[in-house]
Amino acid sequence: MNMKNLLVASSAILLIAGVGMGIFIYLKRPSSPSLQSYNATIVAQGKQVYLESCAACHGVDLKGQANWTDRNAEGKLPAPPHDPSGHTWHHGDKILFDLTKIGPAKILGGDYKTDMPGFEGMLSDEEIIAALSYIKSTWPKEMQKRHDLLNESLRQQEAQK
Ligand code: HEC
Repeated sequence: MNMKNLLVASSAILLIAGVGMGIFIYLKRPSSPSLQSYNATIVAQGKQVYLESCAACHGVDLKGQANWTDRNAEGKLPAPPHDPSGHTWHHGDKILFDLTKIGPAKILGGDYKTDMPGFEGMLSDEEIIAALSYIKSTWPKEMQKRHDLLNESLRQQEAQK
């Protein structure tokens, strides 16, 4: 093979490999959002998002508002804590993401009354994942692991559908 043919052949191989890799990455991309509480960079970004967009209601200390389990006179729930005393950690990544992006009102439907907005159009998907990753990063390691296991079993259920 002369030099020119060799170049053409190797470019072709590189091209095929590149396309293959692209398809592989496309198929392997996560089908649902996944919190990154072990990624320090994402957690740091998420803390900023949390302080700017969530802390007003859920608290700088993630403790939520007083009497969060009781509906007020308007029939609305106060903002729940996102620390271990709340039930945020009982929910998988996908529902946490959807609750934040779409908002409880649209998800629960009817005329469900809530102060929790949907952040679609205000925050990017990455910012939402970062804020939730920050929240998760504040939980004790054991609880983060339990949450990982919860996600794993939810993903398996989803895959079996
Ligand atoms: C204006 C006040 C307010 C802001 C701002 C706010 N929330 Fe909420 N959030 C609430 C209220 C109130 C609820 C309870 C929802 C209901 O009415 O059922 C809630 C519920 C939630 C839940 C469900 C928790 C659970 O245990 O079921 C998640 C997750 C959540 N918020 C995340 C966020 C994130 C992330 C942000 C910032 C990007 C944010 N919230 C900003 C008021 C707020």
